[in-house]
Amino acid sequence: MTAGVARDAGAARPPALPLDLSGRTVFVAGAGSAAPGWSIGRASSVTYARLGARVCVVDRDAASAEETTALIRAEGGVAETFVGDIAVEEDVARLFAEAREHFGMVDVLHHNVGIGKTGGPLETSAADFDRIHAVNVRSLLLASQQVLPGMVARGRGAVIAISSVAGMRYLGYPHLAYSVTKAAVIQFTRMLAQQYAPHGVRANTVVPGLIDTPRIATTVASMYSGTSLEQARAARAAQVPLGRMGSAWEVAHACAFLASDAAAYITGTELVVDGGITGKYV
Ligand SMILES: NC(=O)c1ccc[n+]([C@@H]2O[C@H](COP(=O)([O-])OP(=O)(O)OC[C@H]3O[C@@H](n4cnc5c(N)ncnc54)[C@H](O)[C@@H]3O)[C@@H](O)[C@H]2O)c1
Repeated sequence: MTAGVARDAGAARPPALPLDLSGRTVFVAGAGSAAPGWSIGRASSVTYARLGARVCVVDRDAASAEETTALIRAEGGVAETFVGDIAVEEDVARLFAEAREHFGMVDVLHHNVGIGKTGGPLETSAADFDRIHAVNVRSLLLASQQVLPGMVARGRGAVIAISSVAGMRYLGYPHLAYSVTKAAVIQFTRMLAQQYAPHGVRANTVVPGLIDTPRIATTVASMYSGTSLEQARAARAAQVPLGRMGSAWEVAHACAFLASDAAAYITGTELVVDGGITGKYV
């Protein structure tokens, strides 16, 4: 998270890979899981803690957030649960105030929340569109407003926003509001990166492909209508050049890389974690 001077400038010998977050505080918005198991936010939270970070485990689902915090503490890591809706202004202000009170400044914002609803223009109500936009995009504005002043004051910071390959491609079924908002997340993050690069703040988007998280049991099966969950899982895996869905850990490791000084010269870009699917013709 260094600003103007190259981290290894003048180094007498090649630097070691600085995959380390010791002394950093990471705010993970959406650190629970839609169902029991390893979501991207949960795996990322544990990964940040393993690299030495203090983790603000933030979710509107208190029990799920507590589970993530307990997993981190069970490994000897440092985490605290903060409960609220990241799409609601008062909650966002309170969540960041509580996080600052507990850990001091936030060094890394990992914006993980994402909701969606299957359907194209005729199946998507304006109210649903507004809600999905509020949770997926407007919340990123609110969270950025909370972290940027402190990051600028300290001349360093990192923002990791989670998009989706649905924000870049049509995935074979209508998922309009989700896809549009995930595209907006990418461009929001690019804009933020350009404006705040002179202040030492880096901002990048991680773009997961078809990931095997607990939420696919509750939502994705319905997109492959008329099929069982196992059939839906197999259909997803078959689309991927690497022949399988990704794991939450494989996304989490990309996030940890971007949050750390190992990515000190990377800002304003997208790291696609998709087993090759966005490069496919069909
Ligand atoms: N699973 C996939 O295949 C996949 C693929 C591409 C992108 N993504 C994206 O990755 C992210 C995480 O996906 P996941 O599958 O781990 O999801 P998940 O639904 O298991 O986890 C998201 C968490 O965010 C929380 N949350 C949702 N709205 C919130 C709000 N308004 N305020 C506070 N917390 C809120 C939920 O309670 C949940 O714990 C999402 O942004 C998703 O769109 C997932």
